[in-house]
Amino acid sequence: METLQKVFKTFADPTRVRALALLEQQELAVQELMDVLGMAQSRVSRHLAILREAGLLRDRRDGTYVFYRFAVPEAGPWRDAWELVRASLQHDATRERDVAALGQVMQARAARTRSFFDAVGPEWDALRKVFNDDALRARAISRLVDPGLTVVDVGTGTGILAAELARLGLRVVAVDHSMRMIDAARSKFAAEHLEGIELRHGEAGALPLADREVDAALAHMVLQHLPSPGEAIREMARCVRCGGAVVVVDFVRHEHEWMRQELGVTWLGFEQTEVESWFRDAHLEPPLIQIYAGASASRDLPGTFIASARRSES
Ligand SMILES: C[S@@+](CC[C@H](N)C(=O)[O-])C[C@H]1O[C@@H](n2cnc3c(N)ncnc32)[C@H](O)[C@@H]1O
Repeated sequence: METLQKVFKTFADPTRVRALALLEQQELAVQELMDVLGMAQSRVSRHLAILREAGLLRDRRDGTYVFYRFAVPEAGPWRDAWELVRASLQHDATRERDVAALGQVMQARAARTRSFFDAVGPEWDALRKVFNDDALRARAISRLVDPGLTVVDVGTGTGILAAELARLGLRVVAVDHSMRMIDAARSKFAAEHLEGIELRHGEAGALPLADREVDAALAHMVLQHLPSPGEAIREMARCVRCGGAVVVVDFVRHEHEWMRQELGVTWLGFEQTEVESWFRDAHLEPPLIQIYAGASASRDLPGTFIASARRSES
């Protein structure tokens, strides 16, 4: 009896009913509710206090803002009474005006964001630096990669890229011809408890993989060490399924002789046309090649390229 009286008392006030109908539809701040109802803060706050006391509101603090929502009871007299009230609000002229005003308030919310970005425009790139989000963006983009893929990492070395790929959930076959590198990679994977990586000892020119065994093949800073880079690209193409990707990263042609001794390179980088001809000979589609300036604070480094292509379906 007591609850029923409270239900009727609460719903007897048209402002509270209007507020509840609005807050059932949309979470709103007090100011927004004032705008829709066309009432001063003192009145709106008083009604909100009554509704909160009845346990009908959920609030969420966001900094200095508090947002309210109608927590519609699951069952019981409050629920039954609200169903009745809500049904009677259909075709109610005040309710229709409230819905229109709510639409305007929501448009104003969107307009505030839009006008902020309209004002900022291209300066956003300078502003965004406050987020320092380079790594975050790279991580977000990596989520677009299908985690079901299997990739061969040719010349895996210490397995730095294989580990990155495994962290994304990809299955990796990591190949290298140096047993010391294989051991180093194995230790790295074990230390991180990385799963899904299989190490295979073998030559880039005769990869220890079956035809079409993997979805993609990657060789990062490996071609420059090989006696025959074209042969390695042919091998990578053989091991990927039709439609699979072959990606190579290496230096563009340069004159840094010191790299022969210090980094053990055989080739001083590559011409774009050379890379294109190796992709063509491997029956890959024409590669997309992008060149990036060398980036090192301590040494003058040549540019690098990323070349990628798909194995044609035939
Ligand atoms: C510069 S390291 C790059 C390692 C790794 N891809 C990275 O980016 O950190 C080159 C690697 O290629 C391997 N390698 C060189 N010639 C190879 C060949 N003919 N077959 C297989 N691996 C080879 C080396 O043992 C070495 O681990």
